[in-house]
Amino acid sequence: MQVPFLNPSAQVVALREELIRAVTSVLDDGRFILGPNVSALEAEVASVAGARFGVGVNSGSDALTLALRALDVGPGDEVITTPFTYIAPAESVVQVGARLVFADIDPRTFTLDAADVARRVTGRTKAIIPVHLFGQAAPLGPLLELASRHGLRIVEDCAQAIGASWNGRLLGGIGDIGCISFYPTKNLGAAGDGGMCVTSDEGLARKLKMLRVHGIERRYHHDLHGYNSRLDEMQAAILRVKLPRLAGWTARRAEIAARYSEGMSGLPVELPVLAEGNTSCWHVYAIQLDGRDGLKAHLEANGVPTLIYYPLPLHLQKCFEGAGWKEGDYPVAERVARRVLPLPMYPELTDAQVDHVVGAVRSFFRA
Ligand SMILES: Cc1ncc(COP(=O)(O)O)c(C=O)c1O
Repeated sequence: MQVPFLNPSAQVVALREELIRAVTSVLDDGRFILGPNVSALEAEVASVAGARFGVGVNSGSDALTLALRALDVGPGDEVITTPFTYIAPAESVVQVGARLVFADIDPRTFTLDAADVARRVTGRTKAIIPVHLFGQAAPLGPLLELASRHGLRIVEDCAQAIGASWNGRLLGGIGDIGCISFYPTKNLGAAGDGGMCVTSDEGLARKLKMLRVHGIERRYHHDLHGYNSRLDEMQAAILRVKLPRLAGWTARRAEIAARYSEGMSGLPVELPVLAEGNTSCWHVYAIQLDGRDGLKAHLEANGVPTLIYYPLPLHLQKCFEGAGWKEGDYPVAERVARRVLPLPMYPELTDAQVDHVVGAVRSFFRA
């Protein structure tokens, strides 16, 4: 049996007629930029992210950059985030001209270690970007407390966490601004790039709306230096077909996660754990073990190709050469990067496929 690692076209097959109707109606309507589907989606996504306002932008990466700009983060400021994630949050700090500061992570949840964040706060720290990695919240309790003590802003990176919650609150609307990605393999994926900022602050929503269109509120009157970062109407129409299914897909992901964890119990691997108060949207199901590469090769030979998120922590990336970071600076992130092994995770996986993956993992340890 073959189990693809990801399979974004499975949703297209299932929703084909509805998607074609949605795209056709945009083509017929002719409002391709910031039309009615974008406005409707903004309200709909804001509500599943526990926020009052949504501002559609052209990617999760831009959502982060615009969020920092909206919060006036710039040269002279420091922003703390994690070195164990996709590069976008770190890159957004560089793009606004602020100083990037990493804090190490918790070895069990893969998210920021709040005590290490606290150690790295200085008089220049302006914001923290907690990344809700693999579908569960970073430690928001201590981070919010730190933020209120030092007057810091919180930009939640929810690219992997739409629909997840912390202490009964949906992620996204808890910090100042939440940033969502609609990259095709995300839990709510478009047929191309897309993203959204969510916030409950009306002033910030207004500023984000200006930033995404060259700083204008009135056409050809530019009050801010902005960007061209709009969410396509076509993508919004596609996302609106998918959004009503999101809760069901998340529930199926949770079932798959439970089946994996039950099937692999007793094996010498670390299974994913949720921090107290967290529900996960199970964007990624990742196990950890020493000698990860041997199991990865064994799975591949048994029809289960995998992809490592993330093999090289951000502080060791070439683009940050010259910033002064070296191996050993973030030991937990470095160890996790050597040991982490994500398994296939998407709602269309069948039980038989999940059982095949479990069987392949078990057979590695029997050999
Ligand atoms: C944690 C995280 N932040 C930000 C992004 C950036 O999103 P996008 O690819 O839509 O720019 C991604 C994913 O791609 C991500 O995984």
